[in-house]
Amino acid sequence: MRHLIDFGDLDRREWDELYARADQIISQPEAFGDTCRGKVACNLFYEPSTRTNFSFQAAMLRLGGNVFGFSDPRSSSVSKGESLKDTVKMVAGYADVIVIRTPWEGAARAAALYSDVPVINAGDGGHMHPTQTVTDLTTLTRLRGGVDGLAIGLCGDLKNGRTVHSLIKALAHFRDIRFFLIAPRELAIPEYLRQFMREQGMPFVEVAGLEAVIPQLDVLYMTRIQQERFHDPLEYARSKGIYVLTRGKLARAKADLLVMHPLPRVDEVSVDVDDDPRAAYFQQARFGMFARMALLADLANQPRIAPDPVEIGKAPLCHNPNCITQTQLYLPPLVKQNGGGACCAFCDAPL
Ligand code: NCD
Repeated sequence: MRHLIDFGDLDRREWDELYARADQIISQPEAFGDTCRGKVACNLFYEPSTRTNFSFQAAMLRLGGNVFGFSDPRSSSVSKGESLKDTVKMVAGYADVIVIRTPWEGAARAAALYSDVPVINAGDGGHMHPTQTVTDLTTLTRLRGGVDGLAIGLCGDLKNGRTVHSLIKALAHFRDIRFFLIAPRELAIPEYLRQFMREQGMPFVEVAGLEAVIPQLDVLYMTRIQQERFHDPLEYARSKGIYVLTRGKLARAKADLLVMHPLPRVDEVSVDVDDDPRAAYFQQARFGMFARMALLADLANQPRIAPDPVEIGKAPLCHNPNCITQTQLYLPPLVKQNGGGACCAFCDAPL
């Protein structure tokens, strides 16, 4: 692994190695206190974050390394109009690894084109969030002994929820998982992912109601309605509060159900669920720090490699208004095949 942009780029062996390291770190974190001694991470956070930013910082500090960066691009030269390419080329000269979160889809892949050091995608708009997936899989493996064979409910804003998109991509590497995609029609998963699941032979049903399916689930992955991705506030108002997991609803669930949530929560998991032994989300957030330690232990210790030159673009090929190619016009016109059709290699939108 050179960069972590999309969990789908990893193969099963790479995940097994990553988990083996995370598992060792969870059992004996102090044994890794020098793993990144002398290394420096740069956190470029163009979008709000608590867990991801802090857990990456805590992870690097616990490995003996250091961190610099911004959590608000208004305090950097981005506010003067600096391009993503220039910011990345520059900080790649200062750091050993770059962790980047942006509101633009495909931005981490774009950053990796210009970086001498590994780039980690810490969330690119409504597209992907692979380090949350490393967190989620670490949690599942530690708490359930593995991922194969589970019935997993993904509930909430499946259209804009990048954690769900990344998790679905990753779960293609596992066996016999049954998916319950619980969302209203307006917030259903993007078509490219539906195609992906069909291609990969991942069995799924799409339902609007949580209560009817909850007794069948081994894992319930709740998500927040992603207010910041809505262009129309009225549309958000219609969707907000649509799912609320309460103690009452949990009464009908399996005794060993695992309730997960990437957090932050708004109102989709009521506070009285927190004390139920099935609520795993705060433990999940802590596992996230260890999972990120496992990632940094590998990526921050890689040699610098100058990337190959890339073609200079003229106009965006992609029509997704949230795609990074809409604003960074120098990006090359990269296309890949997905679900039998051509799609944007940055944001996965069909062309
Ligand atoms: C998620 C994100 O940023 O996508 N948060 C996180 O990183 N744990 C989920 C969310 O914001 O709803």
